Amino acid sequence: MMLLLFAVLSLSGCVVKGEAEIMRNLTTVTWAHAVNNKTYLEAALSSEISMLEADIVLGQINGKSGPPIPIMAHPPAATSDLSLADFLTAVSQYNNVNSKQKGVKLDFKSIEAADPGVAPVPHTI
Ligand SMILES: *[C@@H]1O[C@H](CO)[C@@H](O)[C@H](O)[C@H]1NC(C)=O
Ligand SMILES: *[C@@H]1O[C@H](CO)[C@@H](O)[C@H](O)[C@H]1NC(C)=O
Repeated sequence: MMLLLFAVLSLSGCVVKGEAEIMRNLTTVTWAHAVNNKTYLEAALSSEISMLEADIVLGQINGKSGPPIPIMAHPPAATSDLSLADFLTAVSQYNNVNSKQKGVKLDFKSIEAADPGVAPVPHTI
């Protein structure tokens, strides 16, 4: 839980940095939406797109079992080839070596995905 919190906090640093760059010229903001799988993430990172929008749910990596973890998917999907941790790693590695930073907007689709320590609640949010 602390690890996840840290990851989210350090990511919001990325968002601020990305936005500051974009604010210089709002007409240049371009979005990739539902960046919820590896193929699309790699395509978005190697494109000129400046903002990545992605969805997070608690679920499973394709073909794996075990307790649900935060993954990149849009409900009702609950499986993905991309975990939140892998997404964050890929974006921060990109931003570490590129002068043109990518911003990220994360859409937590449920309370549980934002905080696995919290008991499951109905998906009414
Ligand atoms: C903003 O971006 C557009 C499109 O790239 C460009 O034509 C324009 O000159 C830019 N404006 C400024 C103030 O940089
Ligand atoms: C990956 O995500 C993109 C954008 O949401 C979607 O168009 C594409 O079908 C997805 N590919 C796979 C293999 O799920």
